[in-house]
Amino acid sequence: MKAIRKQMMIIILCFVTAVMAAGCADKHGIPVKTVGIVMPSKSIERWSRDGDYLRSSFEAKGYHVEMRFSEDILRQIDDIQVLIADDVDVLIIASVDGAALSRTLEDALIKKIPVISYDRLIMNTDAVDCYVSFDNYRVGALQGQYIVDALHPDQTGDTYNIELVAGDPADNNARFFFNGAYDVLKPYIESGRFIVPSGKTSFDKVATPAWSMDIAFKNMQNTLASYYSDGKRLDAVMCSNDRMGLGVLNAIHSDYLGTSLPIVTGQDADEAALQSIMDGQLAMTVYKNVRNEADVAVSVAEAILEGKTLDDSLLGELPAECSFDKTSYDNGVQKVPSFLLVPEVIDAKNIESLIETGLFTLDENGKYIVPVS
Ligand code: GAL
Repeated sequence: MKAIRKQMMIIILCFVTAVMAAGCADKHGIPVKTVGIVMPSKSIERWSRDGDYLRSSFEAKGYHVEMRFSEDILRQIDDIQVLIADDVDVLIIASVDGAALSRTLEDALIKKIPVISYDRLIMNTDAVDCYVSFDNYRVGALQGQYIVDALHPDQTGDTYNIELVAGDPADNNARFFFNGAYDVLKPYIESGRFIVPSGKTSFDKVATPAWSMDIAFKNMQNTLASYYSDGKRLDAVMCSNDRMGLGVLNAIHSDYLGTSLPIVTGQDADEAALQSIMDGQLAMTVYKNVRNEADVAVSVAEAILEGKTLDDSLLGELPAECSFDKTSYDNGVQKVPSFLLVPEVIDAKNIESLIETGLFTLDENGKYIVPVS
């Protein structure tokens, strides 16, 4: 009897040890895979949405999720190190500073943990397996084209004053947005139809650290004081995202001497930006359906874990329309295979179409369109 009990104990012990070694298991005894998700910030609205969507999509498919919001690059390096030490099965990272993670990700490479660069490209490393984002160049092109269509200089034959406000130089996307917009505006600037009174037409001159609304506000105040204090009209500001667009509008309201409101562009469909569009302030935003982006990232992560090849043959299996691009996103070490979703313009004319996504609704007074909470 004693011998049987001892044998049973040994069997139970072995079982417990085996389960512990394999991590958690699902109800069929199959080990549950863990996804490490690292988002850059909670203070920019879209990133907390991305975080929620990624978590719920992975959990719905039976994954265990470890999620971090880093806020700054040192904390992000720390967050990634912890997840690598925890042996997560795959890492999804939206970087704070795309060029500062090469050393940290060497450990992921050593441990063969696949890495998906989420929304923002991670630079100078071969640890990244693929990139899931929107067509960033197209985002900028949509902003530039919006300004051209609104002012239509070819038809009026007039000249217009415009200014440019770009994003964070530590975010590889910011240059793509700027280049997309500038390539559309450039012929008009070169022909003299568009004048940039500040003379600031290069990315380095108009980049805004951390996509900061405050910095965008102060920079616009300075521009207005230096180049528009004689009462010069400002017709449009190409602004790369919503928060900076709202900062620019605040500066216009406090410091601009003119009477007509310039066309100001944005990106992300933040709640405050949608309100501003409906109030006739911000002219437009570029909407990026981040629920779709998260779902595409989940499908691509599964494909990687199943050992599938990442190429255009995967496009048919993805839950949202994407293109596959293997040449545009060179991170300095490799051309990263990229799945790119399609951005769209939202302005006062089509803002209600957001409700059709199921992610937005009318507020309780039926006045504003707000994200579904
Ligand atoms: C970019 C992102 C944009 C916007 C911006 C500011 O990388 O693609 O959607 O959110 O950062 O956070």
